Amino acid sequence: MSLKLSQESQRVPEVADDGIWLECIECGETFAPFEAVRYTCDDCDGLLEVRYDDLPTWDDFENDERGVWRYNAALPFEEGVSLPEGDTPLHEVPRLEESVGVHRLRIKHEGMNPTGSFKDRGMTVGVRVAEELGVDRLACASTGNTSAALAAYGARAGLETLVLLPEGKVAAGKIAQASLHGARILEVDGNFDSCLDIVQDLAARGEAYLLNSLNPFRLEGQKTIGLEILERFYADEGRYPDRIVLPVGNAGNTAALYKAFRELVASGALHPRDVPKLTGVQAEGAAPMVEAIENDADEVRRWNEVETKATAIRIGNPVNAPKALPGIRETGGTAVSVSDEAITSAQRALAQEGIGVEPASAASVAGLQKLRNQGVVEADEDVVCLTTGHLLKDPDAAFEAGDDPEPVPNDTDAVLRHLEGRSGGVLSKLTSRFTR
Ligand code: F0G
Repeated sequence: MSLKLSQESQRVPEVADDGIWLECIECGETFAPFEAVRYTCDDCDGLLEVRYDDLPTWDDFENDERGVWRYNAALPFEEGVSLPEGDTPLHEVPRLEESVGVHRLRIKHEGMNPTGSFKDRGMTVGVRVAEELGVDRLACASTGNTSAALAAYGARAGLETLVLLPEGKVAAGKIAQASLHGARILEVDGNFDSCLDIVQDLAARGEAYLLNSLNPFRLEGQKTIGLEILERFYADEGRYPDRIVLPVGNAGNTAALYKAFRELVASGALHPRDVPKLTGVQAEGAAPMVEAIENDADEVRRWNEVETKATAIRIGNPVNAPKALPGIRETGGTAVSVSDEAITSAQRALAQEGIGVEPASAASVAGLQKLRNQGVVEADEDVVCLTTGHLLKDPDAAFEAGDDPEPVPNDTDAVLRHLEGRSGGVLSKLTSRFTR
């Protein structure tokens, strides 16, 4: 295990509030957490991270709560604006496990959160911080899921919400959510990265509180994905998984899981050799993180042209790369890109196990399959794939991957004749084997 844990800061700076502060990951400058609105370092513009003087062990999570706030010993507040979120299933998938060819495969289905994606875990904390700071308008750029979550949590908190979306590139279910929950939706003639540029400008001008994953508090909530996976897998199997495979867009989850593991190691709750290998998957048409890992580069090159049917991860400038690249490298993981066809094939394979996911989510399984075929992932590994969003988020993609409904006459005998005439239907596509 090649884990060289980045040094957790030992000293508690004067700016700390109740043992919590913000620290720049580049220059180490520290800031009070809730005195002023701040997303990056005042001095060097580096990414900020939330730091704690006291890091929890597993015992500190023993309480009657469920979901994200069960882990409040690892979070900046006791409770948040909650719907509630987290406590998502860790599915067994015996047929998929066999066809992929690993010792154990589990699917952590984040589509089972209140708005249908993992973003809720970040928003329950982020919107709580917005209340603490006393802001009155929330904003984000989004490929869809962040906007749905922000709209719901903003509504819950009674705060105005503004979302910027790339025109024509957001799945229908997500826009429907943002719309009904009452967000003001601006469709930008550009891609996600342009939307983020604009919303960052708006935030810098004090027009809104930014709740993209650049906001360090969002990632605190998303750490609980890692905590839940480790706790549940250990309870089921008596050991921790060797590897966690996840789709990557802005690399917020990759950064958040890495931080969760580092904090557990620092508190003594997790041995460094038990840290799972973080393995990121991108679509071929939007794979700047994969490029950086393959080239052993310190920085990610921004891709200006990006395309994939997995619109949730149609991102060319992963803002959390400085936090996520060390996470992939220090845990001994890797990153891989997959074709849109492989994503659809994995989406069908998951559906065959009863697990309905949107295309970006299926990228994790497609990536695992590719790495297994290449021999990078070994047959004796225990692997957890993260599926980040629900099937109903992107109904068009689901229709495209599944079979068409068959029109039949309004008559039982005719229906029977139809059934005997053709044994097709939805199952024919679903049972088409998940090819290696
Ligand atoms: N999967 C889904 C379903 C997503 O919606 C996203 C990100 C990711 C994976 C990537 O996660 O950014 O932590 O690497 N969606 C954002 C949004 C960008 O606006 O909804 P990441």
